Amino acid sequence: MEMVATSCPHFTGLRPTLHTPRSQSFLQHINSQIRLSSPRKPCRAVAAMAGSGKFFVGGNWKCNGTKDSITKLVSDLNSAKLESDVDVVVSPPFVYLDMVSSSLTDRIKVSAQNSWIGKGGAFTGEISVEQLKDIGCKWVIHGHSERRHIIGEDDQFIGKKAAYALNEGLGVIACIGELLEEREAGKTFDVCFRQLKAFADVVPSWDNVVIAYEPVWAIGTGKVATPQQAQEVHVAVRIWLKKNVSEEVASKTRIIYGGSVNGSNCGELAKQEDIDGFLVGGASLKGPEFATIVNSVTSKKVAA
Ligand code: PGA
Repeated sequence: MEMVATSCPHFTGLRPTLHTPRSQSFLQHINSQIRLSSPRKPCRAVAAMAGSGKFFVGGNWKCNGTKDSITKLVSDLNSAKLESDVDVVVSPPFVYLDMVSSSLTDRIKVSAQNSWIGKGGAFTGEISVEQLKDIGCKWVIHGHSERRHIIGEDDQFIGKKAAYALNEGLGVIACIGELLEEREAGKTFDVCFRQLKAFADVVPSWDNVVIAYEPVWAIGTGKVATPQQAQEVHVAVRIWLKKNVSEEVASKTRIIYGGSVNGSNCGELAKQEDIDGFLVGGASLKGPEFATIVNSVTSKKVAA
């Protein structure tokens, strides 16, 4: 499908050349393009869900925590009441991965925040996928904006690391997202699609990939994207997958949102059809709040 043209005043900052057919809103139009014909899972009593994958919530602890604070966080998570219909993952700093992996309930899986591009060896400071698997890690985050923009990782390097991790059996949380100046220049879709393509060019399969759309201007700033801003990019990503990968992958791949998600804004975001979960930074350091975000899956459920 061709991404369509220009003025959609209530979705500012996106590609200015997009246009909306007169009789439809931009979202209605784009949604009409993405009604996927593959069958949905019949058992999910879920209303606002365009994709067929299970809701997914990841907690990215980044470079935060001490033995004491992490012990408390793990204990809060172990006692939290979590909805069953959600994949839940937390991503501690490397030095605490083993400790978390051995003390956290099986209900929550553990993710690394990075992994080396290939097999381990003489690579000072790096951690291999094999080592991550050895301590029970199931996931790894790649393409996070802090690694792109602070550490300087480029699309190709990120793609290679993701491909290696997938080939070795780890799931990958593949992050994409535009800088504020890119949004303001109307380049949001261009940037996201370019980053997506770098993953698509190399991943062996999409079965264990979750895409995290994280606008950089929303990360750690308290400036969350509006539900409409997020939905608009998520649906565009789903269309991109349909066009460039397959209809099945577009339907099954979870597209989660990240950037200042918290216990108060998660419910409204979760109601959006193409938001299949969240990647949470700051708010994931508080067990009860993280549980609230996990449980925002209920916002999607059909009222009885
Ligand atoms: P934030 O971080 O929730 O603190 O904005 C999100 C992320 O970087 O994954």
